[in-house]
Amino acid sequence: MAVTIKTEHEIELMRIAGQYLAEVHEVLADALRPGMTTKDIDRLGEKTIRKLGGVPNFLHYNGYPASVCVSVNEEVVHGIPTDKRFIEEGDLVSLDTGLIYKGYHSDAARSYVVGNCDPEKMKLVEATKESFFRGIAAATDGAHLHDIGAAIEDYIEPFGYGIVQDLVGHGIGRHLHEDPEVPNFRQRSRGIRLRKNMTIAVEPMINLGTWQVDFLDDDWTVVTRDRKPSAHYENTILITDGAPEILTLPGGRKN
Ligand code: MF3
Ligand code: CO
Repeated sequence: MAVTIKTEHEIELMRIAGQYLAEVHEVLADALRPGMTTKDIDRLGEKTIRKLGGVPNFLHYNGYPASVCVSVNEEVVHGIPTDKRFIEEGDLVSLDTGLIYKGYHSDAARSYVVGNCDPEKMKLVEATKESFFRGIAAATDGAHLHDIGAAIEDYIEPFGYGIVQDLVGHGIGRHLHEDPEVPNFRQRSRGIRLRKNMTIAVEPMINLGTWQVDFLDDDWTVVTRDRKPSAHYENTILITDGAPEILTLPGGRKN
């Protein structure tokens, strides 16, 4: 599949898909508290997506059974919501979700420490978020795709954290996953040139310890090999001739 450049009309639809998803994440952030189950989070996410007029894009994607990936502590991504897993104070919870609006996809992830009470986890969450902003600061029209991962790595390296390499960001539009792949770490090459009106999802997954991960035999859940915590932060962005527009933050905020 080739990398696509979106038309103005497509970008308008992706803006709406992005703004709806920003709202979904705000609803989930407000609701997140100890005692709820990971399935409660998924149900609220799905209900909110549908209420806004969107369609969940993760649900049934390659057989994935939920609308929101809920990944707790050592779970990196693709945790499967269940009514048996209760959120506890101090948990690092990553929420990854997306929706389709009039045929166009949005995709975004946030990580939180419940109760804001574990400094080591909070620092990891903050650094993961900041690494996204460092990465996209390199994503201007005419820059190269792999400049993003290089900027993420430059920022993360001094912390001594591990950057997950087995999963990457991606182009997005009429499909949840389009070309190109968007690595969150340095490559040997600079990659393809970024062009105005490309839309990509940039999604650093940062581990407190080793970068290595295991895939659990539920076919989905990705966990850190050392079982230390991991954080994830993702937005769908539009490449412009200046700074990228962040489609999945309220008001297309630049940060
Ligand atoms: N959010 C994931 C990504 O960024 C996609 C999850 S697909 C699902 O690429 F099936 F696990 F939901
Ligand atoms: Co994604």
